[in-house]
Amino acid sequence: MNTKTTVISQAELDAQFAFCDKIADYWRARGRTPGAYVETYGCQQNEADSEKLRGYLTQCGYAIVREAEGADVVVMNTCAIREHAEQRVFGNLGALTHTKRRHPEQKIFLCGCMAGEQSVSDRIRRSYPHVDGVFSTHHLWQFPQILWNVLTGSKRQFLIADEPGSIAEGIPQVRDSKLKAWVSIMYGCNNFCTYCIVPYVRGRERSRQPEDILAECRSLIENGAREITLLGQNVNSYGKDLDCGMDFADLLAEIAQIPGDFLIRFMTSHPRDASEKLFDTMAKYPRIAKQLHLPFQSGSSRVLKAMNRHYDRETYLEKVNYAKKVMPDLVLTSDVIVGFPGETEEEFEETISLIQQVHYDSLFTFIFSPRPGTPAAKMDDPTPKEEKNRRFDRLCAVQNAISEEIHNAYIGKTLGCLVDGRDKDMLTARTEGGRLVRFPGCDELIGTWQNITITAATTWSLTGALAGAI
Ligand code: SAH
Ligand code: SF4
Ligand code: F3S
Repeated sequence: MNTKTTVISQAELDAQFAFCDKIADYWRARGRTPGAYVETYGCQQNEADSEKLRGYLTQCGYAIVREAEGADVVVMNTCAIREHAEQRVFGNLGALTHTKRRHPEQKIFLCGCMAGEQSVSDRIRRSYPHVDGVFSTHHLWQFPQILWNVLTGSKRQFLIADEPGSIAEGIPQVRDSKLKAWVSIMYGCNNFCTYCIVPYVRGRERSRQPEDILAECRSLIENGAREITLLGQNVNSYGKDLDCGMDFADLLAEIAQIPGDFLIRFMTSHPRDASEKLFDTMAKYPRIAKQLHLPFQSGSSRVLKAMNRHYDRETYLEKVNYAKKVMPDLVLTSDVIVGFPGETEEEFEETISLIQQVHYDSLFTFIFSPRPGTPAAKMDDPTPKEEKNRRFDRLCAVQNAISEEIHNAYIGKTLGCLVDGRDKDMLTARTEGGRLVRFPGCDELIGTWQNITITAATTWSLTGALAGAI
């Protein structure tokens, strides 16, 4: 496999736009507006990719619709991170045989991280004949061409070559929200944590040029974005593959100095590369949210080594303590895996004690899921499933009590929040730390910053009352 990043040229993209025009003409000749449905699984990276798929589809003349039933195109943008995520996709893909039977012209595509696995594309080739095309994340930029080939009767399309990955600037995007925007600053991952499939399906780490990122952020802010979340599997290694003399902290500082009324968030930070410089930069700029998602995965240094995480319990704690020292109001969240192969009861207890020591606002908790092709899938794993479930439940109970305690401490406090939407009879807002607040109010407040006094709390969310504009 070659390891060089390919930059997609303007001429190559223009060729894709020419396919968009041809598809738009195709539908114009049929005298109706076709519908397209994109279903997204997995993380924000996939959400961001789906905005590009919708951008292309819109340029091809499709109206974006909210369900597969009756849609002319269905795209399943999938996640491969755990077995359960894949089972859900296969289940939903099976159900599409019925929508296609009722609407035989329907074209069905599977893309995203699962499409990067040879075994998945083999299974679709064999057992899911109603699927017209499979393309990995490396081929997303070629979607108009793939769609055109399928529309004009070519054979089923399978574009899943094992590649280090490319960077394509200028793909149109239809964003879910005007207020909140995802901005990918890099793609892929080089870390090869032993349990994780991402490096195999998303290719090598590659950073976008800082001027492209800054231009995108400027334009979003000018067009009313109030919150920008920078995305990458390991944002802290931003720039290592470029010769631009800029690291992630420098990039954050540049974005934080764009004039406007906005907040910056980012994810995910790998603890190995999280530096004091990064935390100092976060502390220095008011526009950088005091929120940090710093996955620790395990509280045991032995397990961390087996996971190939390149930090131990002590260095993780040192980093967290420094971040908390320079940002006393920091909202800290994390990911943790229970039941990694060979994890002993004592090692699990080290995870519990780390949670109690750090006091996270919330945690994303996972039971280890063996991913074919990763080193951990071949490791000896003698712990029975029931035991892993018991550990998982215990961990969740410990964290829920901590989250509840932290949330209860908000009661009576007044926090600056961005009002971002409505959920039934309440408006929703996010604190600077990213906590969800629900409060009564009218829709004109959506898109504004408001002070909200917290009146009640649960493990998951806060309820409040309006205390006036900021
Ligand atoms: N790049 C991010 C993580 C992306 S995946 C980082 O390194 O922090 C999101 C989370 O899924 C991971 O942090 C991990 O906790 C979990 N995860 C990944 N692979 C998994 C597996 N095979 N089984 C269980 N959980 C897994
Ligand atoms: Fe997976 Fe590790 Fe890369 Fe995160 S840093 S995406 S867990 S290999
Ligand atoms: Fe899933 Fe791919 Fe994200 S595997 S978690 S969608 S990078």
